[in-house]
Amino acid sequence: MEKPAGTATVNATDALMRVEDLVMHFPITQGILVQRQVGAIKAVDGVSLSVKRGQTLGLVGESGSGKSTIGRCIVRLYKPTSGHIYLDNDDLAVAQGTQLREVRRRVQMIFQDPYASLNPRFTVGGLIAEPMQIHKTGSKAEIRERVEQLLDRVGMNRRFIDRYPHEFSGGQRQRLAIARAIAIEPEFIIADEPVSALDVSIRAQILNLMQRLQDQMGLTYLFVSHDLSVVRHVAPRIAVMYLGKIMEVSDRDEIYSNPLHPYSSALLSAVPIANPRVEKQRKRIILKGDLPSPIHIPPGCRFHTRCPIAQDICRQVEPPLEDKTGSNHLAACHFSDRVGSLTKAGSVQGLGTL
Ligand SMILES: Nc1ncnc2c1ncn2[C@@H]1O[C@H](COP(=O)(O)OP(=O)(O)O)[C@@H](O)[C@H]1O
Ligand code: SF4
Ligand SMILES: [Mg+2]
Repeated sequence: MEKPAGTATVNATDALMRVEDLVMHFPITQGILVQRQVGAIKAVDGVSLSVKRGQTLGLVGESGSGKSTIGRCIVRLYKPTSGHIYLDNDDLAVAQGTQLREVRRRVQMIFQDPYASLNPRFTVGGLIAEPMQIHKTGSKAEIRERVEQLLDRVGMNRRFIDRYPHEFSGGQRQRLAIARAIAIEPEFIIADEPVSALDVSIRAQILNLMQRLQDQMGLTYLFVSHDLSVVRHVAPRIAVMYLGKIMEVSDRDEIYSNPLHPYSSALLSAVPIANPRVEKQRKRIILKGDLPSPIHIPPGCRFHTRCPIAQDICRQVEPPLEDKTGSNHLAACHFSDRVGSLTKAGSVQGLGTL
């Protein structure tokens, strides 16, 4: 039987993490005494993804496209409406009790804002020790020794162990958040815009640290960002998300040189190129309007209200996410063969909403 649109299992071989047809709808209710559901915010609307062990998958898309909600479902801050989230063979979407505790050890999350994500009342030592105390990984002395090793590992001085997070800069705080995330030796880390709140000058340091830890510990990352220029540095494979669904998934070089979805093409056209001569000749794709509301998702292809090459069929039939090249380059577009011409000809001038 044919799978419904958007449910193709992406690159499932050797996957440590496999998300299959994930749905997260937040109900909208009305009523004073009796609450009645009158609609839903369709934040994630049938997403399938997979990440190979030891690799990084970049997840990009405009703000509000549902990226963080996927991350929050994976770490089970949210219980998904439906779908599967396999870590090896365990389905995190339905895990509970002991299995859920075990999942929480194996999967950790790093957040965008290290100011908000670290409890200001804890010392550095307390913050990094907490996950180890929760998971009872050793005696008090062993945990303190381990905290010191973790501070070394993330490039922070051991002397900082009794200080408080407010005494540190954004970059240093993100290092502390990373130390906390790796304290119980997880396998999978969701990094949700981990450098977006940091000064450009220190972004590379944090990205390098994440890369080094990946090499040393064999970590697998889902790297979430609205910024393609960041994702291109860290992720050999990239998924592009729009309004709750994946529009395109491909290896990095392939998606940069040959995008097969107009939305990816628009995002890419907004990324500056260092060479001023090439930059001057480049055409930019303008996207009409804002991201539609996830309460009222456009029928057919959900991108049709902003797509520069939309046709009648796009308003009626949802395109499936399918391999367009035979080399694991997936796109959800009826006219992916026309996308290449978008940046070569036509009017193109800047994309505002990223
Ligand atoms: N807890 C929540 N309750 C209701 N709506 C939510 C909740 N979390 C996110 N949303 C909505 O879901 C959509 C996707 O949000 P999010 O996953 O944060 O997107 P992104 O991370 O791509 O910016 C947005 O419209 C957002 O307002
Ligand atoms: S299916 Fe149609 S509307 Fe959707 S991206 Fe492709 S051309 Fe645009
Ligand atoms: Mg987000």
